[in-house]
Amino acid sequence: MTNYNLFASTYQGLEEVLKAEVDQILDTESSSIRRRGVAISDRSLFDVYKLNFYSRTALRIFLELDRFELRNAKDLYKHGKEIEWERWFSVNQTIKIEATANNSEYFDNEIFASQLLKDAICDRFREIHGERPSVSIDHPDILIHLQISSDNCTISLNSTGDSLHKRGYKTKQTPAPISEVLAAGIIQLSGWKGEVPLLDPMCGSGTFLAEAFMLSDDIAAGKYRQWFAFKSWLPYNKEDFAAIKHKSVLGSRKSFIEGSDIHPLSVMAAEENLSHLYKGRNPNVSVQDFFSLIKPFPKGVIFMNPPYDVRLEKKDIKEFYAQIGDHLKKNFEGWDAWIFSSNIDALKSVGLKPNRRIPLYNGPLEGRLMHFQLYKGSKRPRIKNIGDAT
Ligand SMILES: C[S@@+](CC[C@H](N)C(=O)[O-])C[C@H]1O[C@@H](n2cnc3c(N)ncnc32)[C@H](O)[C@@H]1O
Repeated sequence: MTNYNLFASTYQGLEEVLKAEVDQILDTESSSIRRRGVAISDRSLFDVYKLNFYSRTALRIFLELDRFELRNAKDLYKHGKEIEWERWFSVNQTIKIEATANNSEYFDNEIFASQLLKDAICDRFREIHGERPSVSIDHPDILIHLQISSDNCTISLNSTGDSLHKRGYKTKQTPAPISEVLAAGIIQLSGWKGEVPLLDPMCGSGTFLAEAFMLSDDIAAGKYRQWFAFKSWLPYNKEDFAAIKHKSVLGSRKSFIEGSDIHPLSVMAAEENLSHLYKGRNPNVSVQDFFSLIKPFPKGVIFMNPPYDVRLEKKDIKEFYAQIGDHLKKNFEGWDAWIFSSNIDALKSVGLKPNRRIPLYNGPLEGRLMHFQLYKGSKRPRIKNIGDAT
């Protein structure tokens, strides 16, 4: 059986969580942390399926076909032509090359690099089959990933396709949703596994609730997703993937998970999204203003992602975050609150002493995850210019 080097990509800040997850899924400790991802060596196609199906914090899983040092532009063509592409796809399938080129002496943009690789692939097919595969930009069967970073070049297959944050349960969107991958990463960073009640009082489309429910009930992240790019590969083994899916069982834990939002339309969206998870057991959501909410249990955890709306006046958004801090302090003593926002400035106005502050990215947007333990005395005096909380 052939083994491959894999790369699981994620958002900056979630690398350690992803490594722990990869090691657990593959029952190994041999993965290594890289920038925005985890490298895993010597793994099978079965492992590619498993990572795609189970990982909550990976965005995509790449299977490396060649890695080499570029000495000139032609090296890319030469190496690209030597890869046994015909093992992976047929001439009738469409391809797309996704390329990045940074700090390269030979490629000042990715367009030339991807054209060269496409020519290499097509020339190889022409020599073997007398025909070449077509390129499709919108609906390719096969996604080829080309990464050039100074003189280092990696050619891989994207085994995932669209990012794994597309879990398949979210049929209704609301404005400014948090990524499913980020929400799952935040919950894992907090260490919550379902032991204490969980609330998201600004739940929007219900991402934290859905991810928390799936995590605590052991529902695989890929359970509701239909498409993975590896299904188009020639060596794809349907039975192997079916066996992985079959093994994933619905858990039996019954964690208390509830959400609310001030906007009825958000609550309707969250209800619909959550209804796809496990009918009858999915988290409850209701219309409620956070500022009229009081703790339903002596202990619990809040995950929230308040609006970071740049359309609001700066003064108002800071005041809004200050009110969140006041409300938590007065009404949620004994609880933990994890607040993620891309408005780092506004977060400083919460006015509580953070236990942890973790830089994280929601896609390209930099944000902070703040952990507050709400006990008597956790209030920080409101002083002008609370500029240290970065
Ligand atoms: C950034 S969005 C949250 C997105 C959510 N995490 C998701 O993944 O869809 C902020 C949410 O806070 C809600 N919100 C704003 N003010 C609120 C309030 N006073 N009480 C409850 N919810 C509020 C908004 O309706 C919006 O859905």
